Amino acid sequence: MRQHVNPLSKNFDEIKKIPSLIEMFKDSKLNLHLDIGCAAGGFLFDLALFNPTWNYLGIEIRERLVKTAQVKVKEKEIKNLYFLFGNANNIFNDVQNKFIIKNVKSISFNFPDPWFKKRHYKRRVIQPEFINSLSNCLRKESLIFIKTDVRDLFDYMDYTISSNSNFKIIDKKDFKYCESFNPDKVLTTREKYVIENKLNIFERIYHKI
Ligand SMILES: C[S@@+](CC[C@H](N)C(=O)[O-])C[C@H]1O[C@@H](n2cnc3c(N)ncnc32)[C@H](O)[C@@H]1O
Repeated sequence: MRQHVNPLSKNFDEIKKIPSLIEMFKDSKLNLHLDIGCAAGGFLFDLALFNPTWNYLGIEIRERLVKTAQVKVKEKEIKNLYFLFGNANNIFNDVQNKFIIKNVKSISFNFPDPWFKKRHYKRRVIQPEFINSLSNCLRKESLIFIKTDVRDLFDYMDYTISSNSNFKIIDKKDFKYCESFNPDKVLTTREKYVIENKLNIFERIYHKI
């Protein structure tokens, strides 16, 4: 099920300028949700249909998956969905791409690659520098969602995000306000597998204060 790509490989060093929001979406003024590590994008195709008043942007490091998703978006003429290829950390650490973070209302990290060995933790997508960069650019009240079936990864992500004083945990009863994400309705591919196999799900939502 899990196919890992090493995000620290030199293949991902070259950062292209990403298109403007006007080039990506029919109505660039709609609220924007960013899904990091979206794989084939099934979750975003469902959300884009379910919530036509939101724009959805997926970032994925496996190029073949992104190309297939881009073709599907064109064929289905979906105007509120866009996919970008690359290492999310490199893309958003690049100053010319920070406009995306300044415009997003919510970001999801769904079942990120766990990189179980300690010496591989630096390959995990959530890193302190990345969270600091999000904290500097995100608007107040923007949301970050994390979800995983790996307890150790959850603890690591929660510690990394909670260590930044700009992010506060939102209580589960307030999840209903997270309209971009519909946490109890639209499931990711990994989530369907996890539920079918009766594995645990660890999740948390933070907002920028
Ligand atoms: C375990 S899969 C989960 C896919 C999907 N979110 C889901 O819940 O079904 C993790 C995905 O994140 C992608 N990924 C890992 N590191 C990444 C990075 N630095 N930037 C973008 N995508 C990344 C992987 O290629 C993989 O498709």
